[in-house]
Amino acid sequence: MKPISLTRFLIEEQRDHGRINADLRLLIEVVARACKGISIAVGKGALGGVLGNAGSENVQGEVQKKLDVLSNEILLEANEWGGHLAALASEEMDHPHAIPNRYPKGEYLLLFDPLDGSSNIDVNVSVGTIFSVLRCPEGVTAPTEADFLQPGTQQVAAGYAVYGPSTILVLTTGSGTHGFTLDREVGSFVLSGRNLRIPEDTSEFAINLSNLRHWEAPMRRYIDELLAGKTGPRGRDFNMRWVASMVADVHRILTRGGIFMYPRDLKDPSKPGRLRLMYEANPMAFIVEQAGGAATTGRERLMDVQPTALHQRIAVFLGSRNEVERVTSYHQ
Ligand code: AHG
Ligand code: MN
Ligand code: MN
Repeated sequence: MKPISLTRFLIEEQRDHGRINADLRLLIEVVARACKGISIAVGKGALGGVLGNAGSENVQGEVQKKLDVLSNEILLEANEWGGHLAALASEEMDHPHAIPNRYPKGEYLLLFDPLDGSSNIDVNVSVGTIFSVLRCPEGVTAPTEADFLQPGTQQVAAGYAVYGPSTILVLTTGSGTHGFTLDREVGSFVLSGRNLRIPEDTSEFAINLSNLRHWEAPMRRYIDELLAGKTGPRGRDFNMRWVASMVADVHRILTRGGIFMYPRDLKDPSKPGRLRLMYEANPMAFIVEQAGGAATTGRERLMDVQPTALHQRIAVFLGSRNEVERVTSYHQ
């Protein structure tokens, strides 16, 4: 069978199935092109002078890496002028970024984590980009932060790119989750997995176990039961993986199942979790649900959460449905 490019896939989604419109197609193509640019920069490593710190901090007080800043610029530059966006927001920008007046404005809001897994850049481990697309509220011409604060159920598209041994783009527009692998010679993303499905059961979990002493009781109970293995209440052994790049951990789960957890902990009570709701948790939740998995905060469905701030943090449990439902029930 002939390879199906991302462009062809999107045109068929638009023309044959009427699932997306031309502006959303353009938006996804532009984001994908920006991800190609980021992939090239990531791949150059030391030779491109892209490793190390940028010498600045983001709004969350995290040290920015050169690649955090560069990836943010690549996504901004690519998306400003196409006429498909009303505004953008990013992990690396304190406030939403307005589309300059010299360009036409569109009906969508784009949010992204330009470079996910920053701590892995300098050690040559997989990193990625995560994005989420919302509709700009009706009648709003100059969107503010409040216009972005829509629950995850309102997303019209979400995706991530993982820059690993190969570069892969995973995408949903609400009709399944699909994977595309970058053909580096041709420079185009090619469909490599239509309708990806996450197995309902799993014996593999992903968590940063070093936070164990800070967890709440239901979380400790769940992990204790997994660690007890064959002779414990679960009656089987569980394996553990933790890349510390959410994109890479989620991609593994999309490929062979698993549960990913970043629970709320009591280390810093001002932070209700580590991951950011709007551009990490929600897009991943949409992708995972569209692949038959589940995503919760440990207490409720992630995509039902009404956001209160652009950079708000949240607890995340996602992946194989039966494990996510079990750990969620322990919290209730
Ligand atoms: P970012 O690099 O965008 O700040 O995100 C890093 C996130 C996520 O990718 C990963 O799952 C988690 O932080 C790792 O946290 P620990 O360092 O606590 O393991
Ligand atoms: Mn991230
Ligand atoms: Mn990031």
